Amino acid sequence: MENFRRIIQNNRAWAAAMVEHDPDYFEKRASKQEPHFLYIGCADSRVPSNQVTGTEPGELFVHRNIANQVQPSDLNAMCVLQYAVEVLDVKHVIVTGHYGCGGVKAAMGTESYGLVDHWLGPIRNVVRWNRSELEAIADPEARFDRVVELNVLEQIYHLTETPIIQHAWAKGRRPLLHGLVYDIHTGLLREIATGIDSQEAADALAARRESGVPAGPPPIAGRIAAPPVLAGDELADAIAMRVLRQLEGAAAGGNGKR
Ligand code: CO
Repeated sequence: MENFRRIIQNNRAWAAAMVEHDPDYFEKRASKQEPHFLYIGCADSRVPSNQVTGTEPGELFVHRNIANQVQPSDLNAMCVLQYAVEVLDVKHVIVTGHYGCGGVKAAMGTESYGLVDHWLGPIRNVVRWNRSELEAIADPEARFDRVVELNVLEQIYHLTETPIIQHAWAKGRRPLLHGLVYDIHTGLLREIATGIDSQEAADALAARRESGVPAGPPPIAGRIAAPPVLAGDELADAIAMRVLRQLEGAAAGGNGKR
């Protein structure tokens, strides 16, 4: 309970300090918000969105979840994205991953954590699709760092696939998409991808994303919906191979629908 009381006391002290510095600090922000940025980050407590970006209340529209994912089936994320792009008209959407991400680490392992395993399924795909690049990295920590970076690229790619971003770009409108990784050891943000503002730039990113795909199933017609991964890479591989065989069978059937 003492820890909780501390939060209330800190809040009083913070509000008083802000008003002392600027008597209208809160009133100026009370009637509306006009943020320039949508920040999509990990729920990790060590990566506070406003602090690491040096922004004030009112500057960042924020969505956070485990391992900073953009899943098209996530109603929460899609509502945040739609409101940010179409109503708030944000100039930039920033996906921010972080080294040492527990969600990414869990997706790289075989241990089961229950419901969150489903949530992490798409990151298992990132690991599988980039297996050759990752296996070439001898140092496990460096490999872990690389998966964090690849996951950020993947989430940007997911953003480019949403009708929300595609409609905005088709109308010649913003936002620009950016990918950052926060280093929990230094407090510094690293730029992974910046200024993606068109389908061409998204395609270039996708080409880069798909260039290192030898072992796992290649993304077919853009995407395979992520299978529910219940127990590690082997099961995921088996499911993916089954989907591949079905698709190959359908193609061999030659029904001419393509
Ligand atoms: Co994390």
